[in-house]
Amino acid sequence: MAIQFEGHIFHLTTAHTLYQMGVDAFGILHHLWYGEKTDCSMCYLYDYPDVGFSGNPYDAGKLRTYSMDTLPLEYAAVGNGDYRVAAAAAVHADGSCALDLRYESYKIYDGKYAIPGLPAVYAEDAQAQTLEICLRDEYSGLRVILRYGVLEAVDVITRSVVFENGGSEAVTLKRAHSVCLALHDGAWDWMHFHGRHTMERQMERRALFHGIQQIESTRGTSSHQQNPALILCEQDCTETSGLCIGAALMYSGSFQAQIEVDQLGQARMVMGIHPEQFSWNLEVGERFYTPEVILSCSTQGLGRLSQQFHSVIRNHVCRGDYKLSARPILINNWEATYFDFNEEKILSIAKQASELDIDLMVLDDGWFGKRDDDCSGLGDWTVNEQKLKGGLGALVEKINALGMRFGLWFEPEMVSEDSDLYRAHPDWALRIPGRDPVRSRYQLVLDLSREEVREYLYESMSKLLRENHIEYVKWDMNRSICDWYSAALAPERQAELPHRYVLGLYELLERLTGEFPHVLFEGCSGGGGRFDAGMLYYCPQIWCSDDTDAHERTFIQYGTSFFYPVSTVGSHVSAVPNHQTGRMTAIGTRGTVAMAGSFGYELDLNLLSEEEKQTVAEQVKKYRELQPLIYDGAYFRLSDPYTDGMAAWAFVAEDQSRALVQGVIYRAASNTLRRRLRLRGLDAKAHYHINGGEQTYTGSALMAGGVLLPKIAGDDVAFELYIERV
Ligand code: DGJ
Repeated sequence: MAIQFEGHIFHLTTAHTLYQMGVDAFGILHHLWYGEKTDCSMCYLYDYPDVGFSGNPYDAGKLRTYSMDTLPLEYAAVGNGDYRVAAAAAVHADGSCALDLRYESYKIYDGKYAIPGLPAVYAEDAQAQTLEICLRDEYSGLRVILRYGVLEAVDVITRSVVFENGGSEAVTLKRAHSVCLALHDGAWDWMHFHGRHTMERQMERRALFHGIQQIESTRGTSSHQQNPALILCEQDCTETSGLCIGAALMYSGSFQAQIEVDQLGQARMVMGIHPEQFSWNLEVGERFYTPEVILSCSTQGLGRLSQQFHSVIRNHVCRGDYKLSARPILINNWEATYFDFNEEKILSIAKQASELDIDLMVLDDGWFGKRDDDCSGLGDWTVNEQKLKGGLGALVEKINALGMRFGLWFEPEMVSEDSDLYRAHPDWALRIPGRDPVRSRYQLVLDLSREEVREYLYESMSKLLRENHIEYVKWDMNRSICDWYSAALAPERQAELPHRYVLGLYELLERLTGEFPHVLFEGCSGGGGRFDAGMLYYCPQIWCSDDTDAHERTFIQYGTSFFYPVSTVGSHVSAVPNHQTGRMTAIGTRGTVAMAGSFGYELDLNLLSEEEKQTVAEQVKKYRELQPLIYDGAYFRLSDPYTDGMAAWAFVAEDQSRALVQGVIYRAASNTLRRRLRLRGLDAKAHYHINGGEQTYTGSALMAGGVLLPKIAGDDVAFELYIERV
C-alpha cells in the first residue's frame, strides 16, 4: 500500500521516498517529512519553542509553545496567527478574512483522482493511490480537501486542493494554492527557470535567504519569463548526488510560487494560481478545484529528479496517439518565407523535403483571412485564396501526392482588429469598457471564458480538420494578456476571468484533441512562452523557442530538460546566419542540437548546397533510426553549459546496451589537451565500443575516467558518440 494511516500519521510511500504528515491533538495537520525512506515517524524532529510575537490558538489555552506561526503546517491559511506565506485565503459574508483549518476526515482509494475541467496526471488504478484529507473551518463551514496522488513506481506525488462551501453563506476565495510544502530548515538552494521571448528557461540556482523569494507570471499564460516549476535542493546536491525536490505546476495561466525562510530558519513553499489575478465566488454547496502540482523527490541528485519528471510527463501527462510513438520529422515554412509565400513556394519546399525523406510539411502563419503581415486577419480561419489559389484542399492533396503529410498553424485565441471576426463581434475581445486596450503584436485576445467564442473556434477549426487531410496542428499564442474584462461576466465575477480563460482554453483543447486523436497538436506561444505540464496534457510537444540559434538553444534546452522530456521539445534546424542572433553555425551542429528534441527543419531547402542537402538526408535517416533511443532512453545532462564551456548530454537505453552522447563545444582553443567528458548511466561492468571502433572500454572506465572528445577547429562544434555494448 502506497498510502497508510497509522496512529494519526499519514505515510505516502514511493519507490525511493517517503512523505509524511501527522494530525495533532488540536486537529492541526503537520507536515513531517518529504525525503528518503526512514521507516519511522518523523514527528520527533519538531520543536515547540515559545517564540515572542507568535500567538497561540485560543484552544491551546496557556500553552505558549503551540503556535501556528512556527509549526510546519501542511496547508497554511491566512488569518489564524500564522504570518508566513499562505496557501489559502477566503473572505466571508461578514467581510472577515480568516480560516482555521482543522482535520475532519480522510479517504484512501485506488487510482488517481481527476480534476474536472483541468489537466491532471492520470494512471491506471494499479499504478496509483489517492489520499484525500478533509480540513474544515468550523466558523464558515468551508472545507478544504487536500488531495494526494501517489504514483509509487515513478516517485511522484501530485497535489491539488478542493474548496467546498459547506456553510450557509457564500465565500470569496482570494488565494487557493495547489501546494504548501514545509522544509525543516532553510539552508537549501532553489533553482528556477527564467527567461524572455527567444531565451526561455535559463536555469538559475541560488541559496535561500530569510524572507520571501518568488517566481510568478501575471501575463495570463505561464510565460517565457518564469517557468511554473522549481527545484529545492540541499546545498551539496549535484547532478548525481544529494536530496532535491521538484515541483511543476500543471497550469498554463498566471501563477505564483513563493518560498519563505521564516524567523526560525524553516522554509515553506507555496505554488498555484497567482492570487493577484484571482478571486472566486463560492456559493453554498459549490466546489472550486485548484490545478495540480506534480512533486517528485530524488535522493540521488538532479539527474535522477529530471528522469522522474520525464517519466511522469511522458507516461502520465501526455496523451493521444503520439504519446509514446515516433513523431514525424517536419519542415515548417515560417523562417523560410514568413508571410511571403504562395502555393508554388510552399510546394517547392515540400518537394525538396520529400526528396530528403522529411515526413510532414507545416504551413505556418499567413494562410488565412487577410494576412500579409501580422497586422490583420487573426480570427478569420478561412483560406486566403490570393496566396493559395486552388484552396487549402488542393494544396494538401499535392503535398500528400509527394508522399508527405500536412500540418497547419492556428492562433485560435487571438483576433486582429482588422478582421471580419472583430468587425462582427468586437465584444468577443477582452477589453475594459471606456478604456483603450493594450495591443501586442497588433492583436487582441479573445474572451475564451465565453461559450460562444469557444464554439466559433471549435466550428472553424474542426471544419478545416474534417474537410482537409490535416495531420498536425501548431497551436500558437503570441501575446501576454491584460485588459481583463469579459462582456459576459457580472462585475463581482470579473476577477474570476483569468482562471475562466484558462478553463475555456482547456475545454476547447480537450474537445478538439478528443475529436481528432490522430492529429498531432504542437503547442506554441512565441516559441516556449507556454511550456508547461498543463499544455502537455493536450499537446505532446511544444515549440521550445523562437530562438533557433544552435548555440543559444543548448542553454534553452538545458533549462528545459530539468522538467520536460525531449519528446516534448520541438526543435528545428534553421538557416544561417541565424535569424535571431546572426550567428553562423555548421549544419552538423544545428542538426545535433535539434536532434535532442522533436526534430524538424525550418528553412528554405531550395537554398541549400548539394552537400548540405546530403547532410540533411543523413540527419533525417539518423534521427529516424535513433528516435527510439532519444525518446525512450534515460536522459543525462553531462555538463553545465554556463560553466563548462560546452553543452553535453546523453540518452542511455534502459537495458544499458547503447547510448548516444551528443554535445557542442563552444570555443576552440590553441595548445590545449582534448576535453574529457565523463559519461553516466552505463553498466559499469559491461564493455563498450565507441562509434564502431575496435577498442573496447568498460562502463566503469567511461563513467569514472570519461572519454576524450575530438579536438575542434572553430566555435560551436558538435560531437557525437555512439556507445554500444560489445
Ligand atoms: C510564433 C511562433 O513561435 C513561430 O514559430 C511562428 O509560428 C510565428 N509565431 C508565426 O506568427
